[in-house]
Amino acid sequence: MGHLYLSRELTDGAMAAVRSLGVPVVVHDDPDRPPAREQLLADVRGASALITLLTERVDGEVLDAAGSDLRIVANCAVGYDNVDVAAARARGVVVTNTPGVLDEATADVAFGLVLATSRRLVEADRFVRSGADWIWGPRLFVGLDVSAGATLGIVGLGRIGMAVARRAAAFGMRILATGSRATSDEAAGYGVEAADLDRLLAESDVVTLHCPLTPETRHLIGAEQLAAMKPTALLVNTARGPIVDEAALADALARGVIAGAGLDVYEDEPRVHPGLLGRDDVVLLPHIASAGEATRDAMGRLAVENVRAVLAGEPPRTPVG
Ligand code: DGY
Repeated sequence: MGHLYLSRELTDGAMAAVRSLGVPVVVHDDPDRPPAREQLLADVRGASALITLLTERVDGEVLDAAGSDLRIVANCAVGYDNVDVAAARARGVVVTNTPGVLDEATADVAFGLVLATSRRLVEADRFVRSGADWIWGPRLFVGLDVSAGATLGIVGLGRIGMAVARRAAAFGMRILATGSRATSDEAAGYGVEAADLDRLLAESDVVTLHCPLTPETRHLIGAEQLAAMKPTALLVNTARGPIVDEAALADALARGVIAGAGLDVYEDEPRVHPGLLGRDDVVLLPHIASAGEATRDAMGRLAVENVRAVLAGEPPRTPVG
């Protein structure tokens, strides 16, 4: 049997699970940076299993570099747009992801961005740190009251979107959502109203994105969709950067087409569009929505469990597709 290749060291708990597999292991030696392409192609040679992250493009070239012993690509993320699933399938390689274990952590950060943008929290923090001469005032940093019946539009009501809906319901928000689960009993329990994208964009005070990145959702939010939003509306993205046309977003903010944005993900990550960097009405995070300690451990352990299962000839827990 070939080795298990990890493109980054995982949490201590997940690494202990890796060691318990009893297979040779090769771990990329820089914990903070993904492997360069040439390094990746060299290190996967002869591997039976790969644990990869969203920072690696796993395509036919990588699969061929690994060779015919490769049985599984266990992507340690719920999103798997970095993996060419068709190329893997054509080579008889199983692809797995890590759904279910990061819903709450991701929803926490998405809702954190709803609050940070609506109540201008990061802007206010910068203001205090600037040494500005301030005193309480009735017009100081006034923002949107999410709890006074503001409307949240959830684009893509899947597991994470539903966890966001639960938080929004607790804040007394009106909730519109797209996606097949928008008409489910669970959604009805949170007061979710199913809506198409046009209505959701037109009526929401905050729009939050929770759909996967696919050819259909690339640039789902572009100039036209931004123009359909209220001029006071905010956009939150914790899903995948390319779902938003970032140049169009920068332009819309500059022209006051919408009022602000909270972003955890970027179109050309980790590069951020220069038109967003200097803006006070934008909150920028470095793709940390799933970065809870227990969550990251659960993601790593699930990826390792998928590897164990496939190498033992069992079905994986969370195959994609
Ligand atoms: C995912 O899982 O897809 C997140 O973007 C990273 O945790």
